[in-house]
Amino acid sequence: MSEPVIRAQADTHVEKIKLRKAGKCALVIFGGTGDLSKRKLLPALYRLHRDGYLDACFSIIGVGRGEMTVAAFRELMRDAVSQRVRDFDTSEWEELARKLDYMQADLSQTESYREIAVRLESHGAGSPTDGNQLFYFSVSPSLAPPIVEGLAATGFCVEGDGWTRIVVEKPFGHDSDSARELNETIARSFDESQVFRIDHYLGKETVQNILAFRFGNTLFEPIWNRNYVEQVQITAAETLGVGHRAGFYDGTGALRDMIANHLLQLLTLTAMEPPVAYDADSVREQKVQVLRSMPPMTAHEVIHRTARGQYGPGTIDGTLVPGYREAERVADDSVTETFAAVEFRIENWRWAGVPFYVRAGKRLCRDVTEIAVQFKSTPHTLFARTDARVPPNSIAIRLKPDEEIDITFAAKVPGEGMQTSRVRMEFDYQQTFGVELPDAYQTLLLDAIEGDATLFTRGDEAEAQWALITPILETWELAARPEFPSYDAGSEGPTDAARIVAANGHVWRSLKEAAGG
Ligand code: BG6
Repeated sequence: MSEPVIRAQADTHVEKIKLRKAGKCALVIFGGTGDLSKRKLLPALYRLHRDGYLDACFSIIGVGRGEMTVAAFRELMRDAVSQRVRDFDTSEWEELARKLDYMQADLSQTESYREIAVRLESHGAGSPTDGNQLFYFSVSPSLAPPIVEGLAATGFCVEGDGWTRIVVEKPFGHDSDSARELNETIARSFDESQVFRIDHYLGKETVQNILAFRFGNTLFEPIWNRNYVEQVQITAAETLGVGHRAGFYDGTGALRDMIANHLLQLLTLTAMEPPVAYDADSVREQKVQVLRSMPPMTAHEVIHRTARGQYGPGTIDGTLVPGYREAERVADDSVTETFAAVEFRIENWRWAGVPFYVRAGKRLCRDVTEIAVQFKSTPHTLFARTDARVPPNSIAIRLKPDEEIDITFAAKVPGEGMQTSRVRMEFDYQQTFGVELPDAYQTLLLDAIEGDATLFTRGDEAEAQWALITPILETWELAARPEFPSYDAGSEGPTDAARIVAANGHVWRSLKEAAGG
């Protein structure tokens, strides 16, 4: 973009990010050697340890299917963490590694949980962890019910001297029925206050800042409604393909992987009413109200208000990349969508008539994640003959490529006549405060250990999300599917996606432009 940019400055200079400190506890990671553990959980734990946020009496037990010595597990994690963390410090790692333990277990067998209990007792010997235990489900959704039952059968859900909590990774079920069943299975053994359904988008600083931006200012909230907002576009575009997660992804698809959780979370935070307080119940209640105001689509609406696509081969950043069907563990005729777009409607006083367009896709031309609120045009075009190109105002809350808020408006070009030009006012989170932002998993792990569920999904919220997604899945199953592959890797996505915005006279925001060119 070539418009002039005005940058935000903060009154507060942050020397070092301050997070809450984790108390004593044993963290058990089911799926301890898996992808999430290597990419996110252990790097987050390493950073927390390095920055002094983990208690000296904090221990970690990785539980996996494979046979492995504790030394081999530590080595595997060392490799994973050192590849992902800048300024990796060997002595810091050695200290953390001493807290790392490993157990092989078949999670479908009750006996395994007895062995875990024995191992936990050894970690708690002389009460270093005070009996506090956090079980992290970093496993496929089908394993969640047997783990809950295994923990319950071994008496883990009964809190003794310390607390017991479970963190359940997304996807929480795979449709309405499975999410409800999983909630019921959990509720038979655990109290809702012990359950933390994680959606890592809620741990991102910019996502939390949506509430500060909306409810900490008088400037924006009065215009945050159908009287001023023309449309909202929520985008999560990735240049990456599915890589070695193809086995998981092929049974999931873009709608379940991104829209059913992360993007609906962004939508509810953008659309919710002000909560009475910033606490778990008040915030989550308002988010659920938004989901309840969105009527599930009929089959007819699904046909007109959704689009899907799958990438074929193409070029990204000058490199030729293969199509989705050529990925390892993906069938030659796979019909899994790697792109999905949906027009949601919120039938309430504030948003009636405003389309909320949501799209997510892999192997697109740019990495862009943003919420773009586009305002209506001015009622009278006083300057129409000077520069008709100036578009209506917009506010983009961006998570990628940089965490920022970007406001565009028209300003007079200096000099003779009344020429206007689009200008941008930009608040770059990292630059403005001058600090590296914590990773979402750092924030969320600390919150779970401290028992603060504000940034986690409530049970009814997870079911309300699926109530919107399931009719789309069911209609897609039966309806005629577009020819796949339907977009080239490195493009802006399938051309068919234009249909849903064009029906209301809109166009999608350009990914290239949102990413700064
Ligand atoms: C995960 C999805 O939940 O989020 C991935 O399963 C996706 O497919 C990822 O790539 C995106 O997260 P982020 O934080 O990189 O935007």
